Amino acid sequence: MQRNLLTRILDFVKWQVHKVALDRAFDRSRNVDTGGQIPAFILRSGREGVRYQAVEPDSFMKAVGSLDIDVAEFRFVDIGCGKGRALLLARDLGFKSIIGVEISQSLCEIARRNCPDAEILCANAAAYLLPEGPCVVYFFNPFGESLIRTLAANILKHRGLSVIVYVNPLHRGIFDADSRFRLLRGNKDVGIWEVAAD
Ligand SMILES: C[S@@+](CC[C@H](N)C(=O)[O-])C[C@H]1O[C@@H](n2cnc3c(N)ncnc32)[C@H](O)[C@@H]1O
Repeated sequence: MQRNLLTRILDFVKWQVHKVALDRAFDRSRNVDTGGQIPAFILRSGREGVRYQAVEPDSFMKAVGSLDIDVAEFRFVDIGCGKGRALLLARDLGFKSIIGVEISQSLCEIARRNCPDAEILCANAAAYLLPEGPCVVYFFNPFGESLIRTLAANILKHRGLSVIVYVNPLHRGIFDADSRFRLLRGNKDVGIWEVAAD
C-alpha cells in the first residue's frame, strides 16, 4: 500500500520535472510564454473548468499533424486555448485561419501576445458557434461533462465539415454514443471524429 503511494508520488514528481523542462524548451525556442499550470479557481472558469496547462507538442502533432485533410482548407478552432500553444503549433501546420476561445481574460491577453495572427475570443465556449466552412475543432480537456455535452450540441449546429480532435478525452463517451459523430481514430490519449456537412 505504502509502496504503491510512493510510486505514485515519484511518478508525479517525474512528470512535473519533465513538464517544466518541456515548457521551458518550447517557450525559449519561440520567445513566448505558454508554460506553467494555473488552477481553475484562479482562472475563474466555473464549476466545470480545469486547470490551465499547455498541450505537449508531440501529443499535438500526433493528433492534429496526422489528420488526413488539406489543412489550408480548414479553420482551426481551439476551445479553451489558454496561452495559445496549440494555436502556434496549428499556425505552423498552415491552417486557413486560427481561432482561440478562452474564458480567462488574463490568458486571452497572453495568447494574443504569443500568437498575434490568431483571432482570440474571450468568452465562455458554451455559447460559441463555429464559423461557416470546414473546421478542425480541437480541445485539450477544457471542462467537465455537461459543458462537453453543450459543445457537442453546438458542433452539430455547424454548417460545414467538422473534424473534432479531443486530447485527453475524459468524456469521449458523449461523442462515441452519438452516431452523427463518426469515429476516425481513438485511444486513451485522443479521440478524433468527423461530422459531415448538412
Ligand atoms: C488544459 S487547458 C488547454 C490549453 C490549450 N488548449 C492547449 O492545448 O495548450 C484548458 C483551458 O480551457 C479553458 N476553459 C475552461 N473552461 C472554459 C470555458 N467554459 N470556456 C472557454 N475556455 C475555458 C481554461 O481556462 C484553460 O485555459
